[in-house]
Amino acid sequence: MSIKFNLNSISRDNSQTKYAEADTLVFLLCQECKDYLGNLNLPANISQAMNLYIEKYPEIFDVADKHCFTIVDAGRIVNLIIVGCGKGKECKPNNFRKAAGVAARALNTVEAKSACLLAPVISKATRAHYLNAIVEGLLLGAYSYDKYKSDAKEPKACDLTIVNGVDDSLKVIEEAKVVAESVIFTRNLCNTPGNDLNPVGMELAARKVAEETGMEIEVLGPKEMQELGMNALLAVAQGSKAEPRLIVLKYNGAGDAPYNAYVGKGITFDSGGISIKPSDGMEEMKDDMTGAGDVLGAMRAIALLKKQCNMLGILSCAENMPGGNAQRPGDIVKSASGKTIEVLNTDAEGRMVLADAVWYAGHLGAQKVIDIATLTGAVIIALGTETSGIVGNNDELVAQIIQAGKLAGENYWQLPSLPECKKAIKGDVGDLKNSAGRAGGVITGGLFIGAFVKEGLPWAHIDIGGTSTATSTDGFIVKGCTGFGTMTLIKLAGEI
Ligand code: BES
Ligand code: MN
Ligand code: ZN
Repeated sequence: MSIKFNLNSISRDNSQTKYAEADTLVFLLCQECKDYLGNLNLPANISQAMNLYIEKYPEIFDVADKHCFTIVDAGRIVNLIIVGCGKGKECKPNNFRKAAGVAARALNTVEAKSACLLAPVISKATRAHYLNAIVEGLLLGAYSYDKYKSDAKEPKACDLTIVNGVDDSLKVIEEAKVVAESVIFTRNLCNTPGNDLNPVGMELAARKVAEETGMEIEVLGPKEMQELGMNALLAVAQGSKAEPRLIVLKYNGAGDAPYNAYVGKGITFDSGGISIKPSDGMEEMKDDMTGAGDVLGAMRAIALLKKQCNMLGILSCAENMPGGNAQRPGDIVKSASGKTIEVLNTDAEGRMVLADAVWYAGHLGAQKVIDIATLTGAVIIALGTETSGIVGNNDELVAQIIQAGKLAGENYWQLPSLPECKKAIKGDVGDLKNSAGRAGGVITGGLFIGAFVKEGLPWAHIDIGGTSTATSTDGFIVKGCTGFGTMTLIKLAGEI
């Protein structure tokens, strides 16, 4: 990380001395609320300059548009960073999350050491969700992955005071920090290349989280998988020298209430196996464990925030390689559920490792199951790179995910689970086939997984194939692995 914020909170009435000390002032501006500038007790020439800038640059309110100026005030240079948050009703918390991400990088560029952040919407006591979004945006937007840069420097410290009127502001800031740090935890895992992170590495990461948070953990290796008949997961792993791991974290925050389960696809590298992928872009498949990373990051936050829920976090981890012992197209394997799978394409491995994992969730007594996976390239064609797809058997559960996504600034769109689509995955010689071709690829992939969920349980599948990696930096998203999904799973816990 290039800049590290020490976050503080101050009320508007006490803020004048802070302005006088700050080398940088950050304004998150929304058009409707620009009049608040008059109430901030800003030094006269700064508020005058702000009014002039607003007059001269009407586009200054455009979401995540950034303007940087310097001004001389009382014999010193002050940086003004202005980031737009939209106009009127558009001005939702997620605009502030994006704008704060942009502001974080601008603070890094001007090498701010002591800064004040001002935003109109958080001057009211009830606006905690805006403050929460701003803090998440700041920390996520400042992210950079430099573990492998031999010349990486220590991050520069910046004292950043957020001027606000929120009751309990320090608690809100603390919670948002835990959420952002957990998303960053996921991003770091996902950005780690396949040679440094295999399923055993996932186990070590999960054990560390369990130890730090006091969660229970159970880890299954090949022997335990064989005993349980998890041949779908084993089949994917058999082409690699790296052993598979099925990792279960157990968080108890609601007494003897039933458990729900988050289940993540943890393919630490997906070469496609014998149905090998084209080499162009194959390097991106180091992030094919994002679903498992999301679940681990979310479980970390859920435990640290002591959320009131009982949750299982299941990480189904393997490496998909074309080694001498790899599974072949045409192979038929019997999953732990008893259903047989015809392997038409060894590159459709995610649904196989999830088949045994969602079955295991039911076996452990989960009442609701949500799986999350970089499952298909088809989701990119269907929904692009901003929106994740959802397929499920329970519209209420799907709606709850979409709602949590709104709070997290993560977009979802439900695809239909028509009974007709189930025909496409019916096997010719086995019960199910793992690939039904290109038509409706997101739906058939999801429904395949759903076929292994214990009868009667509400279930939803999230396909993050398009959203797990970003090709450019924008708002609170930084180029590379995004950790998309972690924040939604955190905000959803306790709501389902
Ligand atoms: N991990 C990939 C999906 C993927 C591809 C995500 C590209 C993001 C970018 C998955 O394992 C896969 O290979 N899916 C196949 C399924 C097909 C063989 C039915 C796909 O989407 O091509
Ligand atoms: Mn694949
Ligand atoms: Zn994959």
